[in-house]
Parts: sequence; structure tokens; C-alpha cells
Amino acid sequence: MSEAPLVLVSNRGPVTFDDEGGMSRGTGGLVTALTGLASHRDAIWIASALTDGDVAVSRERGGRPFEVESPDGGTYRIRLVESDAGAYERFYSIFANPMLWFIQHYLWDLSNAPDVRRHEVEAFEFGYNVVNEDLARAVLEEIEDMEEPAVMVHDYHLYTLPALVRRARPDVFLHHFVHIPWTQPDAWRVLPSKIREEIYDGILANDIVGFHTQAYRRNFLQCCRELMGYEVDWERSTVTCKGREVWVRAYPLPIDWRATQAVSRRDTVAAHEDELLRRRRDHLILRVDRADLSKNVLRGFTAFDIFLEQHPEFRERVTFLAQMMPSRTDVAEYAEYLERIEALVAVVNHRHGTPDWMPIQLKLRDDLEEAMAAYKHYDVLLVNAMFDGMNLVAKEGPVVNERDGVSILSENTGAHEELGSCALSVNPFDVQELADSIHAALTMASDERRRRAEGLREIVTSRDPGDWIDEQLADIRKKAHA
Ligand code: G6P
Repeated sequence: MSEAPLVLVSNRGPVTFDDEGGMSRGTGGLVTALTGLASHRDAIWIASALTDGDVAVSRERGGRPFEVESPDGGTYRIRLVESDAGAYERFYSIFANPMLWFIQHYLWDLSNAPDVRRHEVEAFEFGYNVVNEDLARAVLEEIEDMEEPAVMVHDYHLYTLPALVRRARPDVFLHHFVHIPWTQPDAWRVLPSKIREEIYDGILANDIVGFHTQAYRRNFLQCCRELMGYEVDWERSTVTCKGREVWVRAYPLPIDWRATQAVSRRDTVAAHEDELLRRRRDHLILRVDRADLSKNVLRGFTAFDIFLEQHPEFRERVTFLAQMMPSRTDVAEYAEYLERIEALVAVVNHRHGTPDWMPIQLKLRDDLEEAMAAYKHYDVLLVNAMFDGMNLVAKEGPVVNERDGVSILSENTGAHEELGSCALSVNPFDVQELADSIHAALTMASDERRRRAEGLREIVTSRDPGDWIDEQLADIRKKAHA
């Protein structure tokens, strides 16, 4: 492998521009994962132009790469790729979300949905594939003069891109990291076989495919075997597809915990803390998530409702703060979910609230510093996702929390593979168990809380994203010279 710059490609980039040219940081685990990497190494980050502001900036730069300084300080070289607006809408709002996202989080309620009609099939052909082609073209331009280029492809938006890049540049090294779960074979049977084949043949055009956990790695191998009939070597964790060998690996993503702690020390965070402490009751339960169906927000509130019902001694003494970033609101399922969240919060607050106590405080906004202030002071951090690729909140909270807060953690999150032993594990569907865990966390002896909190901190601070990327680069080198 040469020392050429690393080429990263993903749908969402590190920053997004609004109509006035203002800039904000991209939200979600993928951006959090890649920002450190892209600002510290010689890298170019190719991403879709997501907003009208992105399109305007991309056009101003003639579609070429340019440097930006993100609001959180990192400097990136990015290239924003514009796609036809109709194609992008089909790609993002029909095929990637919800179709693929729902398949990969077991979210389809199969007796009701989805119906796969021309609408969905065309969203794949004239949406998903078009955006993948547009981004593939940009990748090919960027690597045109590079010898032995290495491209790192990210997530479920770009499964067909690797085959397109491979066809034009057989010498390229392609590494694809999937940030979300890989589900078992039957979940994929929702897709028409032709689409499924294009997706699997697309992702198997990579040299290495990476996941957060061993469980997703195994599921992927199983899918390649059962759905596609490809030869799988379980011991070496490889798939042979069309005469090429693909390595399948698990690289659990660490957080940049030093950066997280640095943010938590900002003056602006202190101002939010003052406000929070002024309103604080004896206990604070916290959740921080994108308002995504996979996060299991409704069951979290239902469990709190049950807890208050069964433990009236906690009334007026505990607040559940939920900071939720509205997400993908152009997708009908997401808009409806947000409405259901607000409705349930109103019901629980009405049922238990008093004139000067609101049991659930719902904040629908993306404010990193406000979330950071709450991280410092929670007694209980609730992460009850139904299924979640990794879940970085479960890692961020414990490295800044100052109260030996207890983590309640769904056993179906990627983070559970690492943190499960120090958290209170829950089955995300068992709301009674969750209510009991809230009680157990709030009444836990202080030495037990300290032991668990220290354990979590130790695990989270034992690796950083530099290690994560080094592990992947080491495998790239190993395979390139194998
Ligand atoms: C998850 C996905 C990312 C995605 C993020 C935010 O973390 O793995 O690929 O970027 O959610 O979702 P959005 O649709 O807003 O990009």
C-alpha cells in the first residue's frame, strides 16, 4: 500500500451547510467515528450533498474537494457529491431508510409491512444505485492518479458502490465498514432476490468487510452462505465470491474519550450544568438518542411509568430527562414515531405529574453541550435500544459522569459485547425488567455503583479511534501483501 491519502466515502459527511452557508456538525455514530480519523490523517472524505446548502457549496467548488473547519474544531478535506434530487429522495427516504435500516434492525412488522411494489424496486434501481454511481464516480476521480489506492467505504447506504469502483479499478483496495447490525439470513428475505444479489455482490467486491461485533460478523458469513451459496471459511472468517477472497472482521469502535472529556470541560457546558442542577431532583435518569425507532424510546417511557406506579415513594424525587435529536423526519415512519413519543410523554406526565414536578422532560434538539452537561450529572443512563450497531452514548456517558452513574444497557447493542459486565443488562422488550432495573439502579449501594462506574471507565478508556483505524490499516496491509 502506498502512502497516498486515505479516501473515505459515506453518505453523511462531517459537516452540513444550511441555506445561508452556515455550518453544523453531522449527527450520528458514523460521523462521531470518523471525525478524529479524517482530521488527523491525510484523508479525503467524499460524502453526499444532503441539503440545498450542501449543493450550493458543492457547485461553488465545481464539485472538487475543499477544506472545512468543523464547528467542533477539526479540519477536513471533503468533497460533496450532488445527485439528482428525485434519485436522492428515493435512495434516502425509501430504500436506505426505512428499507435497509429496518431489515438491519429487525424493525419490520412483517404481517403489515413492507409491501414491495414498483415504488420500492424503482427506489433501488433509480435511487439507491444512482447515488452509489455518483459517489463511485467521485471516488474514481480522486484515485485516478494514485498507485495502489485504498478506499474506505462506510455503511449501509453504499452497498453497490464497491462493485462499481472495482470494475473500473481492479487494483483498488476496498475496505467497507458497516456501522449497523448485520441481521440473520431470514431478515434479508424481505428483499426480492435480484436486489439481494446486487447488494451482496456489491459488498463482496470489497477486500475486507468490517463490523462492530463478532455476532454481526457471524451473521454476515451465514448470509453469504445461505442466501448466496458462496463458500465460507468459518475458521479464517472469509468468503470466496467469484474467485476473490473477502476477509470478514470485527473492529469494535472506541470513542475519542479524551475529546469527549475536553468538550465536557467547556464553559458553555458549565452554563447548562447550572441550569440542570437548579432544577435537579434527588435522582436523574437520562437518555440521549436520535429519535429513531430502533432506540426503543416508547418502551423506555412505559417502563418509567410502571416504575412510578410500583414505587410511589420516588414520585417528585426523580426526573427522566430525554434528549432526542429529531432524525429522518421526511420518512413517514420517523415523523409518526416522533408524534408517538410526544403523545406518550404527555400521558405519563399527566398521570404522575404534580403542579411543580414534571416526571419526563423531553428535549427535542441536537445540542452536544447540553447533552454533555446531563452526562455529568445522571444517576442512571438508559440505553435500551431494540437493536443498535454499537451505541456510542453508552460509551460517552461513563467517561464524563461525576456521580458513579449506573448504566442500564440493552443486551442487543453492540456496546453490550464490551460493557455488559459492568452495566445492568436488560432485554429491551421486557418493560417490567426495565422498570425493576431502574429501581435497582436508583437503590444500588454506593460501593457497587463505584465499582461498576470505574469498570465502565476503564473499558472505554482502554482504546481510542486511533487504535480502531490502526487495526484496520494493519489488516489492509496484511491482505494487500498476502
Ligand atoms: C447511524 C448510521 C449512520 C448515519 C447516522 C445518522 O449512525 O449508521 O450512517 O449517518 O445514523 O443518520 P442520518 O440518516 O441522519 O445520516
